[in-house]
Amino acid sequence: MFTRTEIARALSGEPFGQRLRFFSSIGSTNAEAVRLAATGAPEGTLVVADEQTSGRGRASRRWFTPPGSGLAISLVLRPSIAGNRIGHLALLGGVATAQAIESLCNLRPQLKWPNDVWVNDRKVAGILGESSLNADGPEWAVLGIGVNVHAGPPTHAQTRHPATFLAEQCDGAPDRVKLLLQLVRALAEHYPELGKAHLLAAWERRMLWRGKRVRVLNPKATSIKGIALGLDSEGALRLQPDDGRAISITAGDVSLTDT
Ligand code: BTN
Repeated sequence: MFTRTEIARALSGEPFGQRLRFFSSIGSTNAEAVRLAATGAPEGTLVVADEQTSGRGRASRRWFTPPGSGLAISLVLRPSIAGNRIGHLALLGGVATAQAIESLCNLRPQLKWPNDVWVNDRKVAGILGESSLNADGPEWAVLGIGVNVHAGPPTHAQTRHPATFLAEQCDGAPDRVKLLLQLVRALAEHYPELGKAHLLAAWERRMLWRGKRVRVLNPKATSIKGIALGLDSEGALRLQPDDGRAISITAGDVSLTDT
């Protein structure tokens, strides 16, 4: 059962399980975690909900978490990293989510830059990092993770890429409490790598479309094509356009292209 009692019991020995805020329904766990972080909540505060009624996705998109459908969590962090490495937050979420899924399902999840987890060519989870930066680096950061477990987005939702859910891909959907436990463990395991090359390498080992020709649509709706090479030290996408000079891309939506 996905209840406060069961979750608290499962996470009782975990570093990121000591400050649990559970909601059977909430607007957005990220919004709640941002509110808590901005008012002094300590690192490790974990917001978990069974249902989100206005879940936030990247680029002002919506994220759907009907009751009983998936995992929606947000973790408050106070990382000691340079502000220009804040993009590592989404990479941490991706690596941890892929590892957690892999530990319970016979799947090899891949990571699509900057914040998606894919299995069998479909998106199964999304990451949303939010932060407050000052001159010395992040004052606080919130790492939000949504995993489709028993259902994906509703058919009326306009998703940019095909979506799926674990029950569709895994032999028997994983229990959500067990998945949450694996996820908070993986987050604690990889958190010390935030800002470091080790995390970038772990992410790149799972990178979707590495070495393939992709198109990146940037937030100003212009697009650029090239070979996806990997990540730079800040976690930006390294792309080699047709003129051959590798460039770093800090924001955009990546898709596969054959032109
Ligand atoms: C994306 O793929 O666009 C990112 C989706 C992030 C969704 C998660 S669910 C938990 C947390 N709370 C939110 O409102 N959003 C994130």
